[in-house]
Amino acid sequence: MATEAAARVARLRDQLNDWSYRYYVLDDPAVPDAEYDRLYRELQSLETAHPELISDDSPTQRVGDQPLSEFSEVRHQVPMLSLGNAFDDEEVTAFDRRVRERLKLDDSEQVSYAAEPKLDGLAVTLVYEAGRLVQAATRGDGQTGEDITANIRTLRSVPLTLRGDQLPALVEIRGEVVMPRSVFEALNRRQQQAGEKTFANPRNAAAGSLRQKDARVTAQRPLQFYAYSVARLEGEAMPDTHLALLQRVRDLGLAVSPELTDCNGLDALLSFYQGILARRDRLDYDIDGVVYKVNQLDWQDRLGFVSRAPRWAIAHKFPAQEEITVLNDVEWQVGRTGALTPVARLEPVAVAGVTVSNATLHNMDEIQRLDLMIGDSVVIYRAGDVIPKVVSVVGERRPRDARPIVPPEQCPACGSEVWRAEGEAVARCTGGLFCPAQRKEALKHFASRRAMDIDGLGDRLVETFVDQELVASPADLFALRHEQLAALERMGDKSAANLVEAIDHSRETTLARFLYALGIREVGEATAQQLANHFRTLDAVMEADEEALIEVEDVGPIVAGHIRHFFRQPHNQEVIDALLQAGVHWPDPPAVQAGEQPLSGQTWVLTGSMSALTRNEAKEKLQQLGAKVAGSVSAQTACVVAGEKAGSKLTKAEQLGISVIDEQALLVLLQKHGLWS
Ligand code: IVH
Repeated sequence: MATEAAARVARLRDQLNDWSYRYYVLDDPAVPDAEYDRLYRELQSLETAHPELISDDSPTQRVGDQPLSEFSEVRHQVPMLSLGNAFDDEEVTAFDRRVRERLKLDDSEQVSYAAEPKLDGLAVTLVYEAGRLVQAATRGDGQTGEDITANIRTLRSVPLTLRGDQLPALVEIRGEVVMPRSVFEALNRRQQQAGEKTFANPRNAAAGSLRQKDARVTAQRPLQFYAYSVARLEGEAMPDTHLALLQRVRDLGLAVSPELTDCNGLDALLSFYQGILARRDRLDYDIDGVVYKVNQLDWQDRLGFVSRAPRWAIAHKFPAQEEITVLNDVEWQVGRTGALTPVARLEPVAVAGVTVSNATLHNMDEIQRLDLMIGDSVVIYRAGDVIPKVVSVVGERRPRDARPIVPPEQCPACGSEVWRAEGEAVARCTGGLFCPAQRKEALKHFASRRAMDIDGLGDRLVETFVDQELVASPADLFALRHEQLAALERMGDKSAANLVEAIDHSRETTLARFLYALGIREVGEATAQQLANHFRTLDAVMEADEEALIEVEDVGPIVAGHIRHFFRQPHNQEVIDALLQAGVHWPDPPAVQAGEQPLSGQTWVLTGSMSALTRNEAKEKLQQLGAKVAGSVSAQTACVVAGEKAGSKLTKAEQLGISVIDEQALLVLLQKHGLWS
């Protein structure tokens, strides 16, 4: 029995380590996260039952349990140096010239370089002895760093034991720890909700997470390590080139940048730079430039170092993602539910190649947290498509005439009273649909693709309608006439006709879309669908009290309160009546009985294209039958509907042995339940 357990524990460890390697190093996940978690828990419970089987390198032993009171010092055997910088093509040209002169190459000979992004994270060095991670340290001042072994052990991208049979007696691997942008944004959202401080950028967040005294906190913030050099290698021969060396590191189980490549000569370097710069926003981590290194290791030795930087490498920097500018004013934007959002009006400044003159400030709490005043010099951060944000105030530059930021007492759009409920960060206009700003937002939402899907009715047009008082409530849209539309500026005869037709077409909808389109606070698409499934008719939803509403999945007391409040307002009832009068309708409730949903508890996946109905329609119908519709196939998937040209999802379903049906079979199923005729 005990030997059986020992064998299973060993198998589980290998399997989990292998999956981590596939995920972090090869960037090719083998299984969904849920499967990893399942095996992880199995390993955990086996180890609890047989504590003698726990070993230091088990995936379960990554989380240290004792918070540290301080980090101890580590003296680097090989100093951690810095890099020289180049800010333009001329400086790179000069670098390449210096390299060739020192190596005494003639003009026709080109140098082969290794090129990769310069990651904007924290430099970390890892020491492996006989294949085991024995120490991890920060860069510190380059000579002495801090021992962060316990924290680094929590990173699934850092193997506790190296891969392979032939392992070096000792290897010291250096690289950068970064926080992926997706993780950073989620972390800041959580911090904000918990009323804790948010981080200015992914680099600060990575630093804050790594230097946690309590490694359990680090463990909750997925960080990625990318190796970029080897400081020491003992017990095996050094390869000839930097690229071969990093390939060896990768084979040992550590990730290197997926962008790492070789470049022959200066022109190749410059086009690598342009290529990465163009893709910068699409990478999931911040980079502040690219690094070029002479590939041949014996040439690196010949070139050597000057002061604290190598002569054989240089960083070619990108335009900064952070800049300083002045906050000229704060304006208040009114959203669909009346929420007033402060928007910073900035002295225009170029950040990462784009001119920024506005940034979001979220709410009053954020303004207080930043201790922000009008006239302040502020640091702006912009990455990817993310809306630029104000990350901090440069305190020492505050002018004497700086003014405090005060939320208005009257709505800037309609003059109604502004109300901030006790304990809430958000102030709201109380004007409701009387407020033109709220009306515009409500109409934009009503017409949007996932709501009533009125093709061609964009934001600009909605604003014109409201400003010219052609439309006050959603029902007015259905009364618009061709002549009225054609008379508008920039609207041709043809577009007017198309819009009338699109509006007409949108009358035929579904109950779920209609409920979503009403724009009830906190009723998103999924909740609207649940309400429609559960109550089946509009009357039933409108009449439901709080008690009945919380029966619905995803609806808690707060959302139930919003729904009830919405339907109790006479003006909302009037709008709904008018919409029904205007001919908005949806199919009668299907023959399925409430509570009797044949697919409830099942997850379905749609792939490929269908001919009789759109993917979205198929999704809505499956949801009416109680199924969850997911975007990717996993072991938990009950069934995959494969249309024409189905691709990788179908392959994956077949690999996992999940049942697959075609469009025809889906229609038969829908027909059986009265959802198709
Ligand atoms: S090579 C001998 N490669 O940049 C110098 N450094 O200014 C070895 N960095 O603190 C450094 N990405 O942490 C190298 N692909 C990369 C890098 C990189 C980021 C950081 C590194 C160092 C700083 C040097």
